Amino acid sequence: MSATSSTQALPPTTSVPRHIAIIMDGNGRWATKRFLPRVAGHVKGVDAVRVIVEACAERGIEYLTLFAFSSENWRRPAEEVSLLMRLFMTALKREIAKMHLNDIRLKVVGDLSRFDAKLRAMIADAERRTANNTRLTVTICANYGGRWDITQAVNRMLAAAGTCIGAQAAASPAEGAAPAFTESDLEPHLAMAYAPEPDLFIRTGGEERISNFLLWQLAYTELYFTETYWPDFDDAALATAIASFQQRERRFGRTSEQLVSQKKAS
Ligand code: IPE
Ligand code: IPE
Ligand code: MG
Repeated sequence: MSATSSTQALPPTTSVPRHIAIIMDGNGRWATKRFLPRVAGHVKGVDAVRVIVEACAERGIEYLTLFAFSSENWRRPAEEVSLLMRLFMTALKREIAKMHLNDIRLKVVGDLSRFDAKLRAMIADAERRTANNTRLTVTICANYGGRWDITQAVNRMLAAAGTCIGAQAAASPAEGAAPAFTESDLEPHLAMAYAPEPDLFIRTGGEERISNFLLWQLAYTELYFTETYWPDFDDAALATAIASFQQRERRFGRTSEQLVSQKKAS
């Protein structure tokens, strides 16, 4: 299904979130607290990914989006960056067959041009293999930034429109007015156009910021922050986040009274 804009039309409200997006933060601090190198936290973090992917599949979540590496994470020490890349490759190699068996579709979004050719080929292969799976879509955001996403979408929208504008101008040169683009012109070009907008955003590790994650798509998402470090985030912690989500009243600009009378009418 294509994206539903929560600022244009109301997405259906369900008690179980269709789409959960997570900033998996706190690996380094998890390790430091145990007098271990930061690397140990990232290794443990991969185990948590496996646990949460399975938990989401069991719970009937349709989309799970995980922030694995941000466009800002290149600023980290070179050894940490290369270890994260290696971990990503090993995890992909090890997990993809099981994901496929469990009817899970894998997508990787972000500016992949900075990754080496071998990793890019592995990603393309994993996406191809799992493309027709329908139980759960897991999206890994790698070298992803919300601003990068909006910028690349604008560029692709203009490129697509450029072709049309060119044809139009040739047909009727007098009508040279610049077109006014709308949100729905841009949305199909966003990296996650295949998914509805996230219903629930979770950030582990105690920081309360978006860190250039899905800027456009989080417009009306319910936000949930927890002190728990990512390697400790398990099914029980996920259940607590979902329970918090289920307490929220998603008004999308309307009043509480409107929602109550609409509920009575249906
Ligand atoms: C998140 O954990 C993992 C990545 C950003 C790749 P961190 O490595 O940011 O952990 P902290 O925030 O230093 O504890
Ligand atoms: C955000 O975590 C990115 C990922 C989890 C991949 P960071 O730990 O890099 O975020 P900041 O820089 O502290 O905001
Ligand atoms: Mg961090």
